[in-house]
Amino acid sequence: MKFSAQHYAVNQAADCLIVGIFEEKNLSQSAVEINKISDNYLLHLVESGELSGKLGQTTLLRNVPNLAAERLLVVGCGKRGELNERQFKQLMQKTAQTLKETQAKSAVSFLTEIPLNQRTLYWNIRFAIETIEQDLYQFTQFKSQKTAEKSTALSEVIFNVGADELASAEQAIQHASAIALGVRLAKDVANCPPNVCNPAYLADKALNLAETSPLIKTTIVNEAEMEKLGMGAYLAVSRGAHNEAKLAIMEYRNAPNPNAKPIVLVGKGLTFDAGGISLKPAADMDEMKYDMCGAASVYGVMNALAQLQLPLNVIGVMAGCENLPDGNAYRPGDILTTMNGLTVEVLNTDAEGRLVLCDTLTYVERFDPELVIDIATLTGACVVALGQHNSGLVSTHDDIAAALEQAAQQSADKAWRLPLSEEYQEQLKSNFADLANIGGRWGGAITAGAFLANFTKKYPWAHLDIAGTAWLQGANKGATGRPVSLLVQFLLNQVK
Ligand code: BES
Ligand code: MN
Ligand code: ZN
Repeated sequence: MKFSAQHYAVNQAADCLIVGIFEEKNLSQSAVEINKISDNYLLHLVESGELSGKLGQTTLLRNVPNLAAERLLVVGCGKRGELNERQFKQLMQKTAQTLKETQAKSAVSFLTEIPLNQRTLYWNIRFAIETIEQDLYQFTQFKSQKTAEKSTALSEVIFNVGADELASAEQAIQHASAIALGVRLAKDVANCPPNVCNPAYLADKALNLAETSPLIKTTIVNEAEMEKLGMGAYLAVSRGAHNEAKLAIMEYRNAPNPNAKPIVLVGKGLTFDAGGISLKPAADMDEMKYDMCGAASVYGVMNALAQLQLPLNVIGVMAGCENLPDGNAYRPGDILTTMNGLTVEVLNTDAEGRLVLCDTLTYVERFDPELVIDIATLTGACVVALGQHNSGLVSTHDDIAAALEQAAQQSADKAWRLPLSEEYQEQLKSNFADLANIGGRWGGAITAGAFLANFTKKYPWAHLDIAGTAWLQGANKGATGRPVSLLVQFLLNQVK
């Protein structure tokens, strides 16, 4: 989809105009103008009850008197002055769905004049684009019939803005397009089945990205190298799998000072998590192909970065691995030696994410990071605690936590901080090793974070548990691309 910003007049020719009306017979400014040139056409429809202004009501009108545009799409925006970002996204989604069903090739949106609570025009346009792209997404790679069910004639949306708003509108378009690209690519790798998307597949994606982006350099660490580095925890998880583990490192360097310390993003990349010897139940086990959504989000962010060319140094890491039962698989009771020397007693082989991540978090010390954020579908307990709307945030550093909370709030890609105090470490005590890999029944999302905190002492660190937010279940099963939007916003905020 092509997006642009332009100043438009309601009586200009167009395939389709989109205007908003509010409840209580309250027209938006452009709707008032259209009503005037069409001899009260809109108000008649309002009076007759045809147009209610109810949130998300979409009505497609043709042959509106004296209007040069072929179509007029009237969108209900609820009560004037009461629109929050969630409702705005809902009405944008309805708008996109209705537009798709028309034959309009392009549309001019006057919804830019609908005020969003506490938000500027920049956010109106950003959320509009992110929502439209989200709605248009489909994953047809593995359908034999590629003719998309949702195919559409629409290829261009023009946002109407005033001359003084053009600069911020264009910035919103640029940011939103990069985020939408990142989200789409993250969804594509995440939705890919585990017999195709394995650790080598993730590594190939990282290598391909470096080929198309001169600012990115990719290196792959394979199992032989992990052996030399002493990554005993990571390797133990991979032992039950035939596909080799691959740690993919994408280095994006574009800071004015090339030696500036990098921001490091580490994604859990379990391309399938069967639980290992502590085998998971069969129900919904297919969804454990999504156990690489942390890695997928890092991949999406690196693509967005390459497009935006932000003046930062950022290193994206995908920790690719499979967790499967096998005669050679690691066992409950095994004691592993991690890369930083701490020993871990395995009490459940299904708590594998923290084992892959702990060695990766030690590995990234070599980059002397300014800060490290890991992103992981780490615990079912996080979904129990927060549900599917907020990602869990755990951090030893209040300032990073606050910056992530701010980015989450701005991007409407929500996150909620969980406490991480000393006491939780006690749940990880082992009689036989330095640490146990599980912390018992209570506070599982936090004890998982507490486990990781033992491996992040050399740099400021935060952890995002996306187990509840990375994909949807049921009829709309599919990856969400979260938290690409949150992370790109965090990086945008880092640019001084
Ligand atoms: N990948 C899972 C976490 C998960 C489960 C994410 C369900 C989304 C939905 C992780 O590797 C795991 O299995 N965690 C265990 C930890 C437990 C054994 C302490 C869990 O959450 O049950
Ligand atoms: Mn697991
Ligand atoms: Zn897992």
